[in-house]
Amino acid sequence: MESQILRRIRSSFPILNTRVDGKPLIYFDNGATTQKPREVIDAITQFYRKENANVHRAAHHLSSLATNHFEQARDKLAQFINAKPNEIVWTRGTTEGLNLVAESFLRPILKPGDRIVIAISAHHAAILPFQRLAQQIGAHLDVIELTEAGELNSDQYQSYLQLKPKLVVLPHASNLLGTLYPVKEMVKQAKRLGITTLIDGAQAAPHLVLDMQDLDADFYAFSGHKMFGPTGIGVLYGREALLNSMPPWQVGGEMIESVSLTETRYAEAPLRFEAGTPNIAGAIGLAAAVEYLNGLDRAEIEEHEHQLASYLLQQLKSINGITLLPSGAITLPIVSFYHETINADDLATQLDAQGIAVRAGSHCAQPLMQSFGLHSSVRISLAFYNTLEEVERCITVLRSLCDHQTVTKDDPSDSDSAARWIDQIEQAKDWPTRLNALMGLGSIATDPTLKRPENLVTGCASLTWLKLSIGKGSIQLDGCSESRQITALIQLIKKQIGMGASLVQIKAYLAELGLEKQLSRTRGNAIRRLIEWLESHYS
Ligand SMILES: Cc1ncc(COP(=O)(O)O)c(C=O)c1O
Repeated sequence: MESQILRRIRSSFPILNTRVDGKPLIYFDNGATTQKPREVIDAITQFYRKENANVHRAAHHLSSLATNHFEQARDKLAQFINAKPNEIVWTRGTTEGLNLVAESFLRPILKPGDRIVIAISAHHAAILPFQRLAQQIGAHLDVIELTEAGELNSDQYQSYLQLKPKLVVLPHASNLLGTLYPVKEMVKQAKRLGITTLIDGAQAAPHLVLDMQDLDADFYAFSGHKMFGPTGIGVLYGREALLNSMPPWQVGGEMIESVSLTETRYAEAPLRFEAGTPNIAGAIGLAAAVEYLNGLDRAEIEEHEHQLASYLLQQLKSINGITLLPSGAITLPIVSFYHETINADDLATQLDAQGIAVRAGSHCAQPLMQSFGLHSSVRISLAFYNTLEEVERCITVLRSLCDHQTVTKDDPSDSDSAARWIDQIEQAKDWPTRLNALMGLGSIATDPTLKRPENLVTGCASLTWLKLSIGKGSIQLDGCSESRQITALIQLIKKQIGMGASLVQIKAYLAELGLEKQLSRTRGNAIRRLIEWLESHYS
């Protein structure tokens, strides 16, 4: 893409021109949520400043303005995916759309022994509603696995279809691997046997031109916030006749034709699925996002994303110690990888310290991660506003992190080295220096016998083991984690306990070092979990 066009695109996204701790933001977590162009922000602001009223209710001017705008947004979304407005159900997002199908379509028809097909590479949102339902009713989940190349196993899928499942739930693309699945062909195969299909389009919608007539699935769910629109709004597409044959999931205001105390008639779809006041500003914001996308050359931005992802992939392959997860033949610009010795959370935190936002963890895809034998990985997910320079910067930082941290660890028997690192942590003047020292402290080998099941602490993002030994008049903490930064935290707390500090003093010490504030960006609960654990074991 021409640099002038890219510059113009980037100037539409105010957040891309901000700095994080003095460093330009490099936002590579688009699979989690995308940034918003000014057009979307303005549309929402404009609604609240000038048009705010409830929809489909009052006869006053503002209400009809809001209603018109809200319904025009539905029309725009319908055009965007080549469907009818009555086939567009507003939801909170993909998760709600998938739950709606589970509860309104599937629950009423599911019987004990029936089958539902899902994919191992599905996001939890496309597993749990169906897993729970299957367990409640006594139905069976058939799970399509991946081939070695990272594709959905087509033979397995064919054999599952022969069992006449009540519903097939397929990801359009994997949020972890980026693989784009041949859903059009898979839908066709299911339809030939009269089987209903639901596609999770959360990751595909921001990147692909969607055409419901061409795809021919019965249901398709996606989220506004992943396609440059606001949070709290999404769409469930469903065939009109099918939607009208389904009972509503939630009931209440706005979704009825008539109500008496003994009998209620529900409105036709889509309103029958929109009980209560909808996210009006969200729908209007999402329509603005769609309009923004329509104003871009979609083929051009797709090509740009593809080039960035290819370059990223090629460069990642050249970094020592990094293994890419298998991604299949055709992919979205999403890449997941892990390092042989550096924990994914540690890599993400260190990238964050350089202003680079990536995701680490199990990516709401634990069954898939388990199939790889992994607890966490790093995911870089790109959008059309990302640049080659950003990818190059990320690679440079990653390469340097990987080169420097595979050096031999300090000698565990040398207690001076721990003291030296703790000194550096306490004296550090800025966060990157402190983080570096934390990684140093965390890389000192710990007692391997700590990694026993009885010492495993639940609730930390990385596997963590803690042990408190209470002797006569003395208390000792020991522990370790797959994450060096958490191992370092444990060492800091261990030293404090050794000095006889109280829990209040330990908390104050960690706060003074700014650890909760800084680490919570990527590690969320780690410190809180350690403190909770101490609270229940040590006081
Ligand atoms: C493939 C996939 N499905 C479903 C979801 C859930 O989307 P939301 O949280 O917007 O409901 C996500 C979010 O990451 C996703 O990537």
